[in-house]
Amino acid sequence: MSNESLANLLREERRFAPPAELAAAANVTAAAYAQASEDRLGFWAEQARRLDWAVEPTQTLDWSNPPFAKWFADGRLNVAYNCVDRHVENGLGDRVAIHFEGEPGDSRSLTYAQLKDEVCQAANALLELGVTKGDRVAIYLPMIAEAVVAILACARIGATHSVVFGGFSADAVASRIQDAKAKLVITADGGYRRGKPSALKPAIDEALTKADGVEHVLVVRRTGQDIPWTQGRDVWWHEITARQSTQHTPEAHEAEHPLFILYTSGTTGKPKGILHTSGGYLTQAAYTHHAVFDLKPDTDVYWCTADIGWVTGHSYIVYGPLANGATQVIYEGTPDTPHQGRFWEIVHKYRVTILYTAPTAIRTFMKWGDDIPAKFDLSSLRVLGSVGEPINPEAWIWYREHIGAGKAPIVDTWWQTETGAIMISPLPGVTETKPGSAQRALPGIAATVVDDNGTEVPNGSGGYLVLTEPWPSMLRTIWGDDQRYIDTYWSRFAGRYFAGDGAKKDEDGDIWLLGRVDDVMLVSGHNISTTEVESALVGHSSVAESAVVGASDATTGQAIVAFVILRGGVTETPELVEELRAHVGRTLGPIAKPKQIKIVGELPKTRSGKIMRRLLRDIAEGREVGDTTTLADSTVMTHIQAQLPATD
Ligand code: WT7
Repeated sequence: MSNESLANLLREERRFAPPAELAAAANVTAAAYAQASEDRLGFWAEQARRLDWAVEPTQTLDWSNPPFAKWFADGRLNVAYNCVDRHVENGLGDRVAIHFEGEPGDSRSLTYAQLKDEVCQAANALLELGVTKGDRVAIYLPMIAEAVVAILACARIGATHSVVFGGFSADAVASRIQDAKAKLVITADGGYRRGKPSALKPAIDEALTKADGVEHVLVVRRTGQDIPWTQGRDVWWHEITARQSTQHTPEAHEAEHPLFILYTSGTTGKPKGILHTSGGYLTQAAYTHHAVFDLKPDTDVYWCTADIGWVTGHSYIVYGPLANGATQVIYEGTPDTPHQGRFWEIVHKYRVTILYTAPTAIRTFMKWGDDIPAKFDLSSLRVLGSVGEPINPEAWIWYREHIGAGKAPIVDTWWQTETGAIMISPLPGVTETKPGSAQRALPGIAATVVDDNGTEVPNGSGGYLVLTEPWPSMLRTIWGDDQRYIDTYWSRFAGRYFAGDGAKKDEDGDIWLLGRVDDVMLVSGHNISTTEVESALVGHSSVAESAVVGASDATTGQAIVAFVILRGGVTETPELVEELRAHVGRTLGPIAKPKQIKIVGELPKTRSGKIMRRLLRDIAEGREVGDTTTLADSTVMTHIQAQLPATD
C-alpha cells in the first residue's frame, strides 16, 4: 500500500483505557510482553505447565525441519483429561461446565462431573464401535452439548476428529469424509434452526453414497423427526452410550498426536484439511483464553456464539474454556428466533460476563436497532470479544456503547483456522484500545507487516501480515499434502508464515487488519483496502452494512463499487447516495470515493459470516454470477440482482 494513500486512510483517534478495576485484577499484565520477548520458548514452556502432563515435556520447540514444527515433543498428555477429569479431581465437579440453551427454549446444565461421565460413556461407545487411536471420526452435529461430548470422546481415545459444519451440503461432507478417510460419522436426526427442526441425517446418508470407508453412523436424537435408517450401520447415540460405563482410563498420548483436522472453506481450489496436534495446541488455546478474556473461572460466565463447526468453536468453546475450567453458555439457534432480542435474553438469563462474537453479528444487531438490547439487563458483561473479520470502528463503538454499557473493553482478536488460537489482540486489563485495530501480537507471538520484497515496513505503512516465529498452536501441515502446506504458507516470504491478510502499522506500531490480500483494490495506482472503505461507509449514520469491491475500469484500472445496506427507517434517494460518496471522500480522501454505490437489502455471506466479494465483483463487472454453493443463503444473489436497476 502506498504511504500517500495510507496517510489519508482511517484517521481513527478514539482511545479507550482499560477499566481501572479490571486492570488492577487482570490475569495478565504488561510484564508478560517483556518476559516473553526475553525468553520466548521459556515463556511457552511455562504456559505448558497450565496443563496436566502424564509425562512432563523437557523439550519446547523442535524447529530442526522447518516449516514442520514439533512442540513439547517428548511430553505426553490426555487432552480430554485436561478439559474435564482434572477439574473433577480438583474438587470442582459441581461447577457447571455447560449451560445448554436450545433454540425452542429447552435448556440443560451439565456440571464438570456430569460432563466427565458423558465423555467416558461416549469414549467407551466409540471403542465398542471399533474406533481406536489414530482413526478419523467425522462429526456433523448441531450446536448441542453432545457435540462437545463427541469431540472430547475422540480426543480421549486418540481418534482424530474432523468436525464438518452442520450447514454444509452432502457433497461438502462427502469430500471431507473421503479426504480424511473417516471410519465413523457422528450426526443427529436434526437440529432447530429458525423455529423449525432441520434435518441433518439425510445429508450423511447421501454423502455416504459418495464416500466410502465409513463403518458406522452414530446418531444423536435431538428433534425426534423421522429419518432414514440403515440397519447394521446406524446406531443411536442414546442407546449405545446408556449401556457404557462412566469410567474410562485416559491414555497419555504424545504431544504431537493429531488432535483434529478442520477444513478451511477456501475460496478457491480443494478445501485444505488443517491439521492440529495436542500439547502445543491446548497450551495456546488455554493461555490465550485466560489472557485475552481475563477469565476468572469461579465467577465468570463465558459465552462464545460461534458454531462448533468453525475453529472458533474448537478453540474457544471446547478446548480453551474447558481446559480452564470455565462455566459457559452454548446456544443452538439463530439470534432472531423467536425474536431479535434472543442473545440479550440469554446474556440476562445466565448473567453472562464475557461475550465473544463476530462483526457480522454486531452489524446485524446495529441494523435491528438500539432499542432491542436496551430492553435487557446486560450489566453483567465485563469483556467483549470480536473475531472473524476486521471490525469497523462504528460497529466497535456500537458494541461498546450498546452491549458493553460504554465501559466493557473490546478485544478484537485476529487469528485463523491455521493459527489454532488467538495471535493478535488487545489484553483487556492492559491495552488502551483503538476501535478497529487488533493492535499487538500477544506475549510469545511474533507478527509484523512486510512489503512485496519481504522487508519490514516502518510505522505508518502497510503491506502483508506475516508471523516471524513458530507458535505452539500452529497448524502442523495440510492433511495429506505437505507440499501444499509449504507452498501456501511458507513460500511467499522465506522463513516466515504468510497469513494472506493485508495489514498496516500505525504510528504507534499497532496492527490494523485490512482484509484478505485478494480483496485489495488498485485504483489509479493506489492500493485501497476494501475494509477501510467499508468502515468509512458504516461510519455514516444512514448505513448499517457495506461490502466494497474493485471492478475493472478502463481509466483507473479498478473502480470502487460499494454495496450498501441502509439502517432501518432510512430511504434511498439520489441525494443520499451522493452524500455517502462525499462522506467516504471526506473520511479517506478523494481517491477512495466509490465510483458507484448500490443500495441493496442483503449481502452474500458464507456460512461463517464472511462477505463473498467475488460474487459482488461479478455483478459490478456485469458478468454472470459465479459459484454460490458456499453461501449461507443461496437465494441472496437473485434478490440483490432483482433490487438493482437493469441498466446501472
Ligand atoms: C481469516 C481467518 C479466527 C477464527 C475465525 C476465522 C479474518 C479473523 C480477524 C480480525 C481482521 C480477521 C482474516 C483471517 N479475520 N479475525 N480480528 N480482524 N480479520 O477463521 O475462517 O480461518 O479465517 O479471517 O482475514 O485470515 P478463518
